[in-house]
Formats: sequence, structure tokens, C-alpha cells
Amino acid sequence: MKKILLLLGVFTFTLANGQKKMLAATPPMGWNSWNKFGCNVSEQLIKQTADIMVSSGMKDAGYEYIIIDDCWQVSRDTAGNIIADPKRFPSGIKALAAYVHSKGLKFGLYSDAGTGTCQNRPGSYNHEEQDARQYAAWDVDYLKFDWCNSQGLDAKVQYTKMSNALRNSGRDIVFSMCEWGTSDPWYWGAKVAQLWRTTGDIINCYDCKENWGGSGWVLILDQEEGLEKYAGPGHWNDPDMLEVGNGKLTFKESKAHFSFWCLLAAPLLAGNDLANMSDTTKNILTNRDAIAIDQDPLGIQGSKKIDQGRFEVWTKPLAGGDVAVIFFNRGETPVDANVSLKSLGINGSFKAKDVWTKKDMGLLTNYKGTIGMHEAVMLRLVKQ
Ligand code: GLA
Repeated sequence: MKKILLLLGVFTFTLANGQKKMLAATPPMGWNSWNKFGCNVSEQLIKQTADIMVSSGMKDAGYEYIIIDDCWQVSRDTAGNIIADPKRFPSGIKALAAYVHSKGLKFGLYSDAGTGTCQNRPGSYNHEEQDARQYAAWDVDYLKFDWCNSQGLDAKVQYTKMSNALRNSGRDIVFSMCEWGTSDPWYWGAKVAQLWRTTGDIINCYDCKENWGGSGWVLILDQEEGLEKYAGPGHWNDPDMLEVGNGKLTFKESKAHFSFWCLLAAPLLAGNDLANMSDTTKNILTNRDAIAIDQDPLGIQGSKKIDQGRFEVWTKPLAGGDVAVIFFNRGETPVDANVSLKSLGINGSFKAKDVWTKKDMGLLTNYKGTIGMHEAVMLRLVKQ
């Protein structure tokens, strides 16, 4: 095992009892400010979000990291130290991290490998060691590192620089690369980080596309095909944060989005306003059967097995011989599905449970059902 970890370059840390533990052994779960709040971040928002993470049951369901995305930083002092916005974060970042930690949660920040962030706040270029030391001194647990204002720079070189700086900082900090898949990070990411974005930004829609590169979740899903072999414990493909609860997806689209992120063993970073979350949104985000599929200890990213245009079937092998399956209707009219497990390469005897309706379907050799527009039926096949 040790040899495999060394070969992969996967990060480990030492527990009090001397045992080594892997960073991000399962896909990180938490919340990030960007999708809903953009630059409108503050100490108050982060504290409130941490409070609700606990009171809503999200923490119990596995959500752990509270991550401030862009715009928390305003300048550098004469010694080059990064300065947090004093108006929005009057108590300072260390105190805020302490608050988040007091809730039993972990705390994350955002920076950029270039000279400026995507919102033109100071980037970490040529300040990697200094910033990593600062994050460690503030008790940061997670760093998302973006790629704006990086013209002429080499992604692998720059991300490796920050990765080394974090390793030298004396603190275990999960490193999330956000270079949008532009330098094929799946080939080299496992040696540098625990997760890497695979695409441009997710936006709040099913399948829309913006000129600047943003797209709805279903178009991001299409770009994950073939990347499954690069993911595993401690090194994950990141198809970006969740849009569940941000108001534009239908109920079925939201469930399908969440189902697929779980099947992909994607990081589950909620991106909604927890203070104004409906019960429907909360129930999607805290579906424990779906989360168990995402967090399965084998850490295998699921893949597509059947593609009939508007009808697709995806599967994900799970620990103990179980299998997760998604039957997905991408189209606008219902699909009558009739699929044998054998045709998916699944052999053996299985009992099925519907992850969303919670229905026990008994022994299953063939799935038959009508699937609505943009709906995903997700089953856990339990090996008998
Ligand atoms: C980029 C990233 C986003 C977000 C914004 C912040 O677009 O891909 O996830 O961090 O920058 O400015």
C-alpha cells in the first residue's frame, strides 16, 4: 500500500497514533460561496453558513468544508502579505477559521496561480511560499487555486510550486486545482493535488452554454467520459460545484445533477444559500443513499455503459460487489426503459433499492420503467 501511495505521489498525513492517513481519501464534501454569492462574501455569511451546515443536518450527512471563493482578499502589505477585506472580514481570517472549526467543520480559501484572481484580486504568483505559510498560520484546511491572469505560465509548473509550498507549510491543506482542464490535469494532477477541475465553469441551468465557457451540468457531464481512469482515493476529477437549490433547475434536473455527481465520485460542494434552502433542496443535498455512493471507499468514478442518444445508462462499482446504476432520460419526452443487468456487464444476483423513492425492488435482473424528461433513476444494486 505504502509503495502504491508513493508511486502515485498521493498525499498522506500522520495521525496521533503514528499511522498515515490519506488526504481526501473520499471526495471532499462541503460548501463554496461562488455559485450563489459571487463577490458578495463576508464573515457574517460564512458564520451563518457554518451554523446552518450543522443545524440543517448537512454536517451529519457528511458536508465538512466551508470554502470562501474569490473576493475575500483586497491587497498586499508592504511585506507582500495578503490582506483580507477589513470591511467584510473585520475579525480577520484566523478568527473566522476558528469559528468554523468550533462547529466541527473545516475551513477553505481561494487564490490564483497568476498575478490576479478571476475578479482581479491579488493572485499568488511569486508569493506561493508566503501565502502557503499565511494560510497555515490562519489554520486553513483547503485551498482552491484558480488560473486567471496566468498568460505565458505553465500550469504544471505553477501548481507544483503551490503544492510544494503547501506541503512545506506544516499543515494538511487539501489542494484543489482550478485550471479548467486546459492542461489535461488528469494526467499529472495526482502528484500535485487532491482534486482538479476538468472543465470550464458550471452555470445555473440544465444544458445552456455561454461564450465565455460556462455551461450547464449536463454538458459538463459529457466531458467527464473517459476521465474515470484518472480518479481514485486522494486524487479526484472535479466537474465543479453543485447548482442544486439555486433556482433554475427543475426538481428532476436537480436530482439528476446530484445523482450524477455522486456516480462520478465528484467533490460535493453545495453552492446554494443555506439560509434560504427549501426542504426539497435540503432533501436532495442530504440524500444519504446518494452520498454513500459518492463516498464509497473504493473511490471508483462511474462511467457510461449505454448511449442511445437521449437515453443513457451509467454504472459505478461499489465496495462489497454492489453497483450504482443511473438510467437517464436527457430528452423532452418520457422514455420506456427496459434494460437487463447483463447488458450492462453486471453479473450475479442483486437486490435493488431506488436511491430517490427508497423503494426496495427485491431481486432484479432487468430494469423496466418509464423515465420522465431530464430524469435520472438511480439504483443501488446490493450483491446477494
Ligand atoms: C473562475 C473559477 C470559478 C470561480 C471564479 C471566481 O471562473 O472557475 O469556479 O472560482 O473564477 O472568480
